Amino acid sequence: MALRAPRGTEDLLPEAYANWKFLTERADEIFSRYGYLYIETPLFEHLDVFVHGIGESSDVVSKEMFRVLSPDGYSKVAAGKAESLKADQRLALRPEGTASVVRAVLEHSLIMPGSAPIKLMYSGPMFRAERQQRGRLRQFHQIGAECLGAPDVMADAEVIIMLMEFFERAGLKKDSLTLLINTLGDDNCRPQYRQEIQDYLLKYKDELPEETLRQAELNPLRAFDSKIERVQEIMADAPLLKDRLCDECKKHYEELKSYLDAAGISYEEDPRLVRGLDYYTRTVFEIQVKDGLGAQNAIGGGGRYDKLIEISGGKPTPALGFAVGMERILLALEDQEALPAHPRQKQIYVAYPNEHTKAEAFFVVQRLRSEGFVVETDYQGRSLKSQLKLANKLQVAYVAILGEDEIAQKSVRLKDMDKGTEELVAYDNLAAHIVL
Ligand code: HAM
Repeated sequence: MALRAPRGTEDLLPEAYANWKFLTERADEIFSRYGYLYIETPLFEHLDVFVHGIGESSDVVSKEMFRVLSPDGYSKVAAGKAESLKADQRLALRPEGTASVVRAVLEHSLIMPGSAPIKLMYSGPMFRAERQQRGRLRQFHQIGAECLGAPDVMADAEVIIMLMEFFERAGLKKDSLTLLINTLGDDNCRPQYRQEIQDYLLKYKDELPEETLRQAELNPLRAFDSKIERVQEIMADAPLLKDRLCDECKKHYEELKSYLDAAGISYEEDPRLVRGLDYYTRTVFEIQVKDGLGAQNAIGGGGRYDKLIEISGGKPTPALGFAVGMERILLALEDQEALPAHPRQKQIYVAYPNEHTKAEAFFVVQRLRSEGFVVETDYQGRSLKSQLKLANKLQVAYVAILGEDEIAQKSVRLKDMDKGTEELVAYDNLAAHIVL
């Protein structure tokens, strides 16, 4: 049987890797100007980090999480003793980065009383057992940013501005993107609204599928996100939180809009945007591409999660952030024919005619590399003629031929492939002669 990568995963081949590097470099360049520093957390965590952090009512936790057992945990399950699994035996591949970053920040006490906000960025694979589609993978990659300890609405505006700047620098056409914003209220106004939506949903309980009834119990606002047609119809007439906000949340939201207006960022208000993770409070946002990606058109999203750090065992610390999907951005760039070109670095090919000259060729190859050049040579016992043919095919800038006569003079015959000229150059003068 031919071996294949698991469904929903993709190999990152060398050609595509250059695009990835391009995206992470743009993020690094822009986010670092805003004071973000890199963090890297493990690809797997204790299951509870995600269950508590992201919330049980989210699809990400309830349906899509890859649970991982340690080998001793696996033995317990195989013996029918799943209920005695310890925390270290019950793990999960990370479905997103925020819960892990919060866990790491708390574990290493990065937030001290009176400290400035902690701004962290990350990039890497995330895992969700979703049905594979264009732009929807089971192992996908995010670039994310989290700003912890910033209650002021200026921080909300700033992360959105930074994100839009990143999309622009990545090459996405400005008018191809829609920024959706909404507010999910806070502890003052959301509980009553949550109750109102729950009561509203339960009026239709005979028509609602099991899944929505479960949501109505755990997090009724998620019903706004439902893909089920009847639920969508019902939610179309549901009361909206924007009409129930407390004064503080209203002010926060209005201020956000005025900062975005001042920065010239266009947005659409979407009072039904609830996002798929349970930790959000107040500001939420999502960026969609208008054409090409179909249902998987969200290339990034985020928001405030003012309670998450407290729920995770820390001191109350308002925080916010976002993550973007690298595969989706690259698909959108491809659709817009805006993928960057990645010219290969110019190379030198060291050719040698036979076994006697090989050791010296090896020495020259190493010397040129140590002088900073990209160098190729023959490892297959090809004839000089076929080495030259190959060098031509590789479109190298120079060929350095090392025959016995040249070696006797500690020199190479250097062919400039663009100019078609050829000259004898001493090893010591090679670096000065080569112009790339
Ligand atoms: P999210 O909206 O679940 O948010 O994911 C962010 C982005 O990851 C999405 O907009 C999408 O581009 C990409 N993405 C998600 N699932 C898939 C998938 N199965 N295949 C391909 N791409 C996907 C979060 O993950 C939050 N942690 C964002 C955040 C950070 N909020 C606050 N801080």
